[in-house]
Amino acid sequence: MKSIKKEKLIINLPTKIFIKSKILQEANIYLNEYKNLSSLVVIDSFVYKNKNKLNYILKNFEFIKKLEILENIYSEPTFDNLKLLKRKIRTKNIKIIYAIGGGSTIDISKGLSISLRTSKKIESLQGQNKFSETPINLITIPTIFGSGAEITSSAVFINTKNRVKGGINSNLLYPKICLIDPYLAKSNKLRQHIICSFDALVHSIESFTSVISNTFTKEMSILGATHILKGIDNLKNGNIESFENLALGSIFSIISLMHSEQNLTGAASYRLAVNYKYNHAYCGASFLENSLLFIDEKNNKLLKELVEKLFKNKVIKSNNLDCLVNKLKSIKKKYNIKNIALNEDQKKILTNEIIEMPMLDFSPVKIYKKDIFKFLSHD
Ligand SMILES: [Fe+2]
Repeated sequence: MKSIKKEKLIINLPTKIFIKSKILQEANIYLNEYKNLSSLVVIDSFVYKNKNKLNYILKNFEFIKKLEILENIYSEPTFDNLKLLKRKIRTKNIKIIYAIGGGSTIDISKGLSISLRTSKKIESLQGQNKFSETPINLITIPTIFGSGAEITSSAVFINTKNRVKGGINSNLLYPKICLIDPYLAKSNKLRQHIICSFDALVHSIESFTSVISNTFTKEMSILGATHILKGIDNLKNGNIESFENLALGSIFSIISLMHSEQNLTGAASYRLAVNYKYNHAYCGASFLENSLLFIDEKNNKLLKELVEKLFKNKVIKSNNLDCLVNKLKSIKKKYNIKNIALNEDQKKILTNEIIEMPMLDFSPVKIYKKDIFKFLSHD
């Protein structure tokens, strides 16, 4: 909920959030009230195919009386993907859905939670408050950190017919409980974790300067970016603390975004997904530094406090924006994350689409087409 009516402060966080390593071993305590309900467990394909992770989940879910497992193979899901998955469900009258995975699996689960309860065409629900039916209750258990989907009220889908990527947004879609278990997320596939953590960095850094940011969102941004950068610094050892940092950073960052707004990177990632099928978090990794440079070039005061606090929190070595930009570049170099290279025609098409996105209405600086074109270009 954003303070678009100039409220001094809004805090709207209906999902109960618990973060603790190995918290799934105590899932029966946190989820006790749901144990007798007919359950659908939607599991990300990556987790489903990993025997250790799947066994860990199933062992700790033994307290649930009746459950059906559904494997989600889709990322950047379309409405057609959602319909295909819905047809595979055998259990009638599902009373609770567990979403275990990354942002896409959580979005799919949110989509199922309303799609199984409404007769309306699912595409028609894209937008703000397009339904009044009560969705099936949702519990989220993220296995990779960055999107923050585990605590938002938005289910993002691509409509391939009208080429729109957007959320089904409704307060009714907030997950009831979010259990975050860094032990479950721990993995040797560090590159994927880094890419996803850039999504959180976009949320915290871009929302920091928005005209609807406030003291609360700014503090969340600083906490978010600090924990993510700390997590990335220590991830090389693959230790549990680094995953805990990424988990915390992802939550703080999305809390900032939920009450503020993104800027060019956030907006661009929606069009890059629809037009060229680029992954959302990868778009963030590719363009966040350009967004920082764009804002700073227009007004070099806007990012001052953020940079100062990140320096104070010892996640960047000196108190200037170049240091933060260079840090992002060096992270990408280390993990072999190449920038998205667009040709001139693609940049022109994207510029004309991005300039129309309502998200940019909350930018702290005026954005012209030439700015977007430059933003989409790498040296
Ligand atoms: Fe995002």
